[in-house]
Formats: sequence, structure tokens, C-alpha cells
Amino acid sequence: MTATSVRSLTVNTRIYEGQKPGTSGLRKAVKVFQQEHYTENFVQATLHALGDQLTGCTLVVGGDGRFYVKEAVTRIIRIAAANGVRKLIVGQNGILSTPAVSTIIRKYKTQGGIVLTASHNPGGPDADFGIKFNCDNGGPAPDNVTNKIYEITKTLQSYKIIPDISIDIDKVQSVSIEVDGRPFIIDIIDSVKDYVELMKEIFDFASIRKLLQGSADKPAFKILINSMNGVTGPYVKQIFSTELGIDETSLVNIKPLEDFGGLHPDPNLTYAKDLVNAIKEGPYDFGAAFDGDGDRNMILGKKAFFVTPSDSLAVLAANLKLIPYFQKTGVKGYARSMPTAAAVDRVAVKNGVKFFEVPTGWKYFGNLMDAGNLSLCGEESFGTGSDHIREKDGVWACLAWLNVIAGLGKSVENILLDHWKVYGRNFFTRYDYENCDSACADKMMQSIETLIEKPDFIGRQLQYEGKEYIVKQVDNYSYTDSVDGSKATKQGLRILFADGSRIVFRLSGTGSSGATIRMYIDSYENDPVTFEKDAQLILKPLINIALKLSELCQHTGRKAPTVIT
Ligand code: G6P
Ligand code: ZN
Repeated sequence: MTATSVRSLTVNTRIYEGQKPGTSGLRKAVKVFQQEHYTENFVQATLHALGDQLTGCTLVVGGDGRFYVKEAVTRIIRIAAANGVRKLIVGQNGILSTPAVSTIIRKYKTQGGIVLTASHNPGGPDADFGIKFNCDNGGPAPDNVTNKIYEITKTLQSYKIIPDISIDIDKVQSVSIEVDGRPFIIDIIDSVKDYVELMKEIFDFASIRKLLQGSADKPAFKILINSMNGVTGPYVKQIFSTELGIDETSLVNIKPLEDFGGLHPDPNLTYAKDLVNAIKEGPYDFGAAFDGDGDRNMILGKKAFFVTPSDSLAVLAANLKLIPYFQKTGVKGYARSMPTAAAVDRVAVKNGVKFFEVPTGWKYFGNLMDAGNLSLCGEESFGTGSDHIREKDGVWACLAWLNVIAGLGKSVENILLDHWKVYGRNFFTRYDYENCDSACADKMMQSIETLIEKPDFIGRQLQYEGKEYIVKQVDNYSYTDSVDGSKATKQGLRILFADGSRIVFRLSGTGSSGATIRMYIDSYENDPVTFEKDAQLILKPLINIALKLSELCQHTGRKAPTVIT
């Protein structure tokens, strides 16, 4: 369909400070994005950063359904049209999960995509919004690109826009408009089709279906999936109901809502309490929840047996051969982010597979995947994924677990117990102190750094209630990308102990206000009597050592963390 010919306008703007993308794009309160020119500036800077690639390019646009997504899509269409973009591929209703954006960028070989999400942060007029650029590999833009965008925002004088383009994005359709004498195409596509097709290529749907439906000799494996009113709803419905025949009563919160129904759509034991309780009390063998934009996952077994993300990664690593995709591609390597517990490291050693440790942020995995060095990776922050795309992928992780369970014929808990028998267990916990005063948090990080850099800190014996840890190595973690040589510095303060245990302190890069302090504790045990013990109990000495040496309570005034995972 061809509409009328339109012309672009140049609008003078004002500069906004602080448009620096964090771990995953620019994330701020909705009210910040609603300021005059604020969103337009950032979109213009993002397009500008594409340089020579901009004119004639194709970009994917979609978001997690939160408040302001549709408004932002409308603005992006108008700005992209005015900037010489040839085609936009937009999810129907503005909906595309983050993994779906990555899938579509790769499938249609576009120059990139704009993801509208603040991930797991709450949504609604008084909550958060975000804009993230993904490159042509389907992954989050690396630091050099996000820095370029930021630099442009600091000097931007104007942006280009065509205010009178108005397209119904709720309808699957293709619209062509002549802009400044050039064709501009907007394809509004089915939000789930391409992603579901990819999942069907990767996994053994027949065996998952058999597991879920049960057979003459096996009862049905009962699952409960909770989309937390986020973007995964339509994907979950299509995959689990239509393709795998699961009754919709086992699929909860599958209608994307602009405010996530008031939920904090982060799949962990605190914010996904509903799922945890339902599984604890109900007849379910398995539960999974996903975050607002669909890239995070939490996996539970019967009676809400919790699989830590670090263990989830290690178990999948040990069983990848059960998944058709990896039978075809082979296993090229495993990776985890630095603060993630080192469980997968042991699988790598045993299987003779390459292993990488990278800073927090999914973008760091992308180069390794593009270079053919990495098949599977994960983070303690409930992210798991593979080189099928360049984002972490919640629904993929859930299907991977079901594929592995179907292959092994064991319960989630027995899979974990058997895994620990072979590899030992890494106990892990993370304490989050959200929305601390930024200056206090910076001061605390500085004092920890000063303390651990003292020459006599190495070799110190740190004790708590009879348990002793000897400091072996300390640093402010830095990383050099083995593919392109790029460097990331100051990625977290690490205290490594002689027995392999670790304490890590980091400031979050995804918050929208104040500072979030993260304290990570990882400790390895190979004595089977410990395996079924509570992580908080086993880790108590190290937690107390970490709190004491950091003087966290004194610096922040916080007596307890906001969230423990
Ligand atoms: C997002 C990123 C992850 C990261 C997580 C926590 O989900 O995609 O890569 O691990 O946020 O980041 P933060 O900087 O808040 O610890
Ligand atoms: Zn997310």
C-alpha cells in the first residue's frame, strides 16, 4: 500500500545530560523519556551512530509492551523515516521480546534493531522505560557503539522527523510511503512467528510434547509457566498451548500489560513469589518464570526446588548433546559472567571444552559467538542462552530444560543431585542493596579498593565463627576481548580465596536511579553431606566476612539487603 508523499522537518532541540547507555541501553523513569525532545534526541543519536550504514538500512523495532512502548514506536517510525532508513520491521502492537528482536535481526539480516524495554524493572507511567540498540549480529551494542551514541547526545543540535506519519501498528500490514522522494517501508509483522519457528528448529518438540502429555508408562510431567504479565505471554501461549498441547490454566499472566499488573517482572525468589508458592503447594514437577522483556528465566523443580542460574548453566552445559541444535553445531565453548558462580568451569574442564569469563553484560558474549568460540553462556542474574541468537533467552532456557528432562527421564532435583555428585557444588548468593545514595556507594567501593590493594592484604586470614579463608588474589576486574582486543576495566572488586571461594562487589549498571550495590558470594564444596544444605547457611561465614570488610552497613545505613538471590 502506498500512502502520500511526505517531507522531513529538522527540529531544533536542547541537550539532555546523562543519556549514557548502561549495561543494557538507556534506562530511565518514563517521566524522563516524556520530557520534550528527550526520546527524539536519543533515537536521533542512535541512528546517527550508524554512520554510513544509516541511509537505506533496515531496522527492527519492538518492545516488551510496557507503558510508552507504543508512543516510542510512533516516534521512531517518524524519525527513522526522516533519516533515510529504508525499512522498519515492527512487531504487531509494538510487541517483540528481546530474544525475538535478536532472532529477526539475524533472520532478515538487518543492520540492527531498537528494543524498547527496561527489562525486569516495573512498568507504568510512574515506573521505568528504556531504549536499547542492537547491532547487525542481533546483540546489544558494544561499548564503542554506546559510547558513540552518548557522545552524539552531548552535542546534538537538532533531529529530523516527519510528524504527520501515522500508522496503525496493531494491524499486521506492509505500508510504503514516499519520503523526500525515497520509498520508506514499514512492515508490521506477527510478533511470535519467526521466534517460534526458530525454537522448533532448535529443540526436540516431539519428545518435549511426550514428556508433557505423558505416555502409557509415564504420567504427564506437570508444568506451570508464569509470564509475569510481560512480553513472553504470546510466545508462551503459541509454544506451550498450541504447539505442545498444555492447558492454558498452566500458563499464568500471559497477557502483556502496560504496568505488568503492578508486578515487578523479575523472575527470582522474591519477585516471582506467586510462582514459588503455587509450585510449593501444587502438583507441579516444574515451574518457570520470565522477566518483562523475556530474556531472563527462573527454573524450579517439584516443591519449588530452586535451580540457581549458575547451576542451570552448568547442568545445560553438561547435557547439551540431548538438544538437536547442538548435535548439529557441536559445542564450541562455554562462558559465564565474572560474578556468576564457577559451576560451569568444572563442566568445561571435564568435557575439554573451551571456557571464557567475561564482565557482566550480555554484549560481552557476542564477539565470542560471532568468532565461533562459544555455544552456551549464562549469568547469575537469571540469564541463560546460546549462539542461536545474541541475547539471553528465557523461553529458550525453559525449553532447553524440558528437552534435557525428557532426555534424562529424571526430576529436576535428581538432575541437580546427580550433577553435584560428579562435579561438586558451587554455593552462591547475591545480596542487592537497591537505590542507595550514589555518593555513599562510590565511597564504599573506593574504601574496599583501598583496603584490598594494601600489599599485606594478600595472604590475610579472614575468619568468622571458626571458618577461615586465606586471601589469594584481589583486583578490580578488567577484561580484554580475545577477538577484537577491546578492553573493559573496573568491572567489579574481587577477593579470591585459596580454596576457590570468591567475594565480589559491583555497582549495578542497570538501575534507573541511585546506586544498587551487588555483593556476590561463591563457595565450592565437594563433600556430599553439604549438597542438600541451604546456601545461606553454608555461605554465612563468607557473607559476614564480606559485610565486615566492606563496612557496607556503615556506608549505606542499610541493615539488610533489598533482595537476596
Ligand atoms: C541485564 C543484562 C545482564 C546483566 C544484568 C544485571 O539483564 O543484560 O547482562 O547481568 O542486567 O546487570 P547489573 O549491571 O544490574 O548487575
Ligand atoms: Zn530482561
